[in-house]
Amino acid sequence: MSKSILLLPGDGIGQEIMAEAVKVLDWMQAQGLTSLQRSEGLIGGTAYDQVGTPLPAQTVTAAKAADAVLLGAVGGVKWESLDYAVRPERGLLGIRKALDLYCNLRPAQVFPQLANASTLKPEVVAGIDIMVVRELSSGIYFGEPRGVETLPDGRQKGFNTLVYYTDEIQRVARRAYEIAGKRQGRLCSVDKANVLESTELWRKTVIAMAADYPHVALSHMYVDNAAMQLIRNPRQFDVIVTTNLFGDILSDEASMLTGSIGMLPSASLGDRSALYEPIHGSAPDIAGQGVANPLAMILSVAMMFRYTLDQPALADRIERAVNRVLDAGLRTADIWQTGMNKVGTAAMGDAVVAALTD
Ligand code: IPM
Ligand code: MG
Repeated sequence: MSKSILLLPGDGIGQEIMAEAVKVLDWMQAQGLTSLQRSEGLIGGTAYDQVGTPLPAQTVTAAKAADAVLLGAVGGVKWESLDYAVRPERGLLGIRKALDLYCNLRPAQVFPQLANASTLKPEVVAGIDIMVVRELSSGIYFGEPRGVETLPDGRQKGFNTLVYYTDEIQRVARRAYEIAGKRQGRLCSVDKANVLESTELWRKTVIAMAADYPHVALSHMYVDNAAMQLIRNPRQFDVIVTTNLFGDILSDEASMLTGSIGMLPSASLGDRSALYEPIHGSAPDIAGQGVANPLAMILSVAMMFRYTLDQPALADRIERAVNRVLDAGLRTADIWQTGMNKVGTAAMGDAVVAALTD
């Protein structure tokens, strides 16, 4: 039976990079390598402009019915003054919650061709291969109560709640243990257990599960130390599992080890649904100019073939194609260096498609 995917290009460069991902899908389809029913929906600021909400009910229904969702990016200066409830980011957070996507995989791998593009020394970043497993549907992003209140004395009070239940910690930790078991067998749980009770519970819960995974070596780090260690000696990490907010921050940091945030894909997994998106945002500063790097989006398609569509050979093929265009010296502006061939979004996408041929 053919599977179905929902495309949500979203805002800013989301539209441009999605067009390149679609070229890859078209090619796969034309070759008869996969057969996917595709539909498209609205999310983010674009959805707000067209129908008055960043997450239309129709999008949620279509996303629940699809085997996988492919998302570009949301957000932009244009919508920054809107009420929180209708900001583009609410569309993204809303769909993560609606699909119960609790496990976010953010792999940070250095492409050898780009080791020089990192702001860190090549000998520090060469060979890094880190998987950040970020809890995605709970924590301070969603905890109640939240808001801004005006007190009788005229002061305002802004507040959010960091809350985790045992079962929420267990389900993401289970995935992280399993992933570590299939990799180098090292799992580092990152928390702030010295200050925050909810993350002390996080640590205790992760420790209580360790006996079920005798082949995984578990370690713990406070988030401030982890941020420092990622820069000092990133190769010490195999799999990192952490809370929603810490994972947001550490995955951006890990991405810079690889040279550009424009290279990193992600998978957000629940028990019934999955969503694939680049970890970068909508980059309003370069939107519409045809210069954005489409590789994180294209590599997100590869992750979709691997984790949802059970076609790992196609995932390998896409990743190989990306390596080939990098070998050939093609670079978008974010990863460009002297001597390399600077190309725009569409030319990069075309080159990947051309390199898909074996
Ligand atoms: C990410 C982004 C989002 C997040 C924003 C756009 C809401 O930074 O996917 O990392 O904070 O989760
Ligand atoms: Mg982020």
